[in-house]
Amino acid sequence: MPRYLVTGGAGFVGSHAVLALLDRGDEVVVLDNLTQGHRAAVPAGATLVEADLADSGRVAEVFATWRFDAVLHFAALSLVGASMREPLHYLAENVAHSLRLADAAIKAGCLRFVLSSTAALFGDPDRVPIDEDCRIAPSNPYGDSKRMVEEGLAWAARIHGLRYAALRYFNAAGSDPAGRAGEDHDPETHLVPLAIDAALGRRPALTVFGEDYPTPDGTCIRDYVHVTDLAQAHLAALARLETHGSCRYNIGSGNGASVKEVIGAVERVSGRPVPHSMGPRRAGDPAILVAASDRLRAETGWTPQHGSLDAIVRTAWAWREAHPKGYADRG
Ligand code: UFG
Repeated sequence: MPRYLVTGGAGFVGSHAVLALLDRGDEVVVLDNLTQGHRAAVPAGATLVEADLADSGRVAEVFATWRFDAVLHFAALSLVGASMREPLHYLAENVAHSLRLADAAIKAGCLRFVLSSTAALFGDPDRVPIDEDCRIAPSNPYGDSKRMVEEGLAWAARIHGLRYAALRYFNAAGSDPAGRAGEDHDPETHLVPLAIDAALGRRPALTVFGEDYPTPDGTCIRDYVHVTDLAQAHLAALARLETHGSCRYNIGSGNGASVKEVIGAVERVSGRPVPHSMGPRRAGDPAILVAASDRLRAETGWTPQHGSLDAIVRTAWAWREAHPKGYADRG
């Protein structure tokens, strides 16, 4: 039975990937320090090792205890805004931990590595939709930290024969359609859960960050991709690595939605208004980020199953309505 090490498997995207692996019968060891993730988010059936990636002794122990077919590395600091306030902290944590983890994997003979990378690599893109050949020019330390990790992995591929997949996520949203996992960040900064909580009356009105962008309705356009589709992209990338060399894929649904369209979708799905007001732009937000995922589709056969915005919002709504306190409800 294949066995995978999943760092950050107690987090939002990581826990959904763990479900996808367990659903097909794989064995999973989750390594998570639970500072951002939740114990209750680790699916039953996975083994949790509560440890920090900074603890290289523990990481080495994990590789000595189990033999892994691949590492899926989700654990990271991932807030663009926070990275603009603490650039060196972001760079040090994300780059050092990721590269040390890859080094430990290689030393243990595990030569498959899947990295959670980001659309933030592209900064203000030179063209839209964004394919893998677009200019890499991160406009914040978070995006730059992932660029550096991708480059480090490329050296490891060249020198040690590591095969890696760098998966550049666009806007992950939604939740497991069977209700087994969902999105629960603290603090929550993402549009979909904030709009849902505003509709549920659990938070104050949503502030729309700017309506003077060069888009049809003046608000920013993003590519919301269902987290379960994102999880499936990891399985597709793992299969690809078995027969081919390293790869880098942009992952989105390919459909752009504006902030106002997301609000409209939450209102349609829930039948409730989303109280909101217009505010100033948020620093660092590009006007439009939409993925061209043609390479992933063509090379792996991946196709999103929950592509529509309403399908994404419907699952996110169901989970948040059922879990008013997020994972705190589940102990
Ligand atoms: N937005 C609002 N009001 C809010 C929150 C968000 O108007 O209260 C807007 C933002 O300005 C943006 C859109 O909603 O236009 C989406 O914002 P999110 O914070 O949900 O997501 P981001 O696009 O900022 O960032 C996400 C991930 C990053 C990743 C980036 C890449 O969180 O890790 O996508 O596209 F780098």
